[in-house]
Amino acid sequence: MTGTSRGLGLDLVRQLLERGDSVAATTRSSERLLGALGEGVDTSRLLPLTVDLRDEAQVKQAVVKTTERFGGLDVVVNNAGYGFLAAVEETTDRDVRDMLDVQVAGVWNVLRATLPILREQRGGHVVNVSSVLGLVSVPGWALYCAGKYALEGLSEALAAEVADFGINVTIVEPGYFRTDFLTQDSLALPAATTDHYPGIREMVDNHLNLQGSQLGDPVKGAAAIIDRVVAGEGPLRQVLGSDSHAYATSKVQALQANLDATAQSAPATDFPATA
Ligand SMILES: NC(=O)c1ccc[n+]([C@@H]2O[C@H](COP(=O)([O-])OP(=O)(O)OC[C@H]3O[C@@H](n4cnc5c(N)ncnc54)[C@H](OP(=O)(O)O)[C@@H]3O)[C@@H](O)[C@H]2O)c1
Repeated sequence: MTGTSRGLGLDLVRQLLERGDSVAATTRSSERLLGALGEGVDTSRLLPLTVDLRDEAQVKQAVVKTTERFGGLDVVVNNAGYGFLAAVEETTDRDVRDMLDVQVAGVWNVLRATLPILREQRGGHVVNVSSVLGLVSVPGWALYCAGKYALEGLSEALAAEVADFGINVTIVEPGYFRTDFLTQDSLALPAATTDHYPGIREMVDNHLNLQGSQLGDPVKGAAAIIDRVVAGEGPLRQVLGSDSHAYATSKVQALQANLDATAQSAPATDFPATA
């Protein structure tokens, strides 16, 4: 599992250890992870791994250590992620590459290292933590959404590719959850802004002030993810939170209206049917 020293990932680690499961937990800081778990948690089945997800060799090494320690791998959870709030034109090339390195290339590194193991054993579960913003895109969130949309695209293809090997794929789409996500520790902001997007500045302030009042309970979120994996095969997408469900439903309705509006014009580019 990736991204484990805070938030949803930390709650997942805690609950899995309490259940008696073995957990390989990657983080940028094992020290922070162990500190956050505290004294009360039995860590004898925990393998903390300090890994830079952008580094394929480090990811591979972490998977080798995991299989050496636990003798196999049942579930892979790609959870690491962070928000970035800026207008599209305020987002630098570095910002884009950093986000996609973590949310797309990093996930791909994990999948390349773990899928052969799941495939060989003909079973397993991949859980990719996306967001409702992997389905819905809103002003100021373009880069985050680009990363999560990419994650959704790769996950959908993956699910169909690996189904015959007995591997399940679940895309998790949380709404607002009361983790560290909206704190200055997690959320990234642009180095420079323009005066042209007062609405985005207001949105950023509102989001920083949301901390502590988000609807989603991460303890319940982690439990829901565990239940979903234990239950095995299920819907490809697991929406978490009534806010997420409402946003996703609106998106589906808007998409349907858009499809209806282009139903006449779309076929105009087809070659004529041949007899
Ligand atoms: N909370 C929400 O409202 C919400 C909503 C929808 C989706 N999500 C998604 O849920 C997942 C978990 O987020 P959270 O809510 O638990 O937030 P969080 O409390 O900020 O935790 C995020 C985790 O992701 C890892 N991470 C953050 N930036 C990273 C980077 N640059 N490189 C590598 N790892 C990084 C961190 O791992 P380490 O520090 O241990 O390395 C951290 O444990 C993320 O994918 C997030 O996008 C959250």
